[in-house]
Amino acid sequence: MSRQIIVGNWKMNGTTRDSQALVQALLGKVTADGPEVVICPPFTQLGLLASTVEPSPIGLGAQDCHKEVSGAHTGDISPAMLTDLGVSHVILGHSERRQEHGELDETVREKAVAAAKAGLTPIVCVGETEDQRESGDHFDTLGWQIKGSLPDGFSGILAYEPIWAIGTGRAATTEEIAETMTFLREELIRQFAEAGKTIKILYGGSVNDKNAASILSIADVAGALVGGASLKAEAFLSIISAASAA
Ligand code: 13P
Repeated sequence: MSRQIIVGNWKMNGTTRDSQALVQALLGKVTADGPEVVICPPFTQLGLLASTVEPSPIGLGAQDCHKEVSGAHTGDISPAMLTDLGVSHVILGHSERRQEHGELDETVREKAVAAAKAGLTPIVCVGETEDQRESGDHFDTLGWQIKGSLPDGFSGILAYEPIWAIGTGRAATTEEIAETMTFLREELIRQFAEAGKTIKILYGGSVNDKNAASILSIADVAGALVGGASLKAEAFLSIISAASAA
């Protein structure tokens, strides 16, 4: 069993005070012999937190990046700016970015290329809506998202986040996750041949301290992308412990 990855996506949460308090509560409890842990605070906290987590095994990720290295892109942040701060991972194509910022598969793919070129590990998100799952179109949707969002030679992480499970407290069932993992793995192998066997797949969507152990023990689930529960140190640490045991 390879080392699991637990990623905390803080979304648009975290003043300086909250962020420091949360990270202080994690420091010392996240150890190098446990799962890989990456926190993704908002851009505004990355610089400050980089020095806080630097001596610890906690990795730092961003929640998005631009596809260019620099230039006239008001309000955007480039991959090079992230690596400059010591950031190692970047979440791309989260459904909230796809929905609120109109990001298309093509945009996500271009960002994934730029991120990898800068030395970041992209965590590319895919996931179906509730309507797509209810109408049985979820595998088609996921298949298209994978084809469109993952560039040739992709060597990052894939995150399966059903949109209906995000922030709802209603995680996908273990059966739904297991069946979707099988489908995603087949698609990855179809697209990337041998390399598709080693791309890690995370599950995200209402992962919490109660359901983490069963979700993380599903075959081929390499870890979790955690939203709400990553903002509470105790819950996040429980999820990390569940990953150690998985
Ligand atoms: P929740 O864990 O709050 O459902 O969020 C999941 C998510 O979107 C992580 O990227």
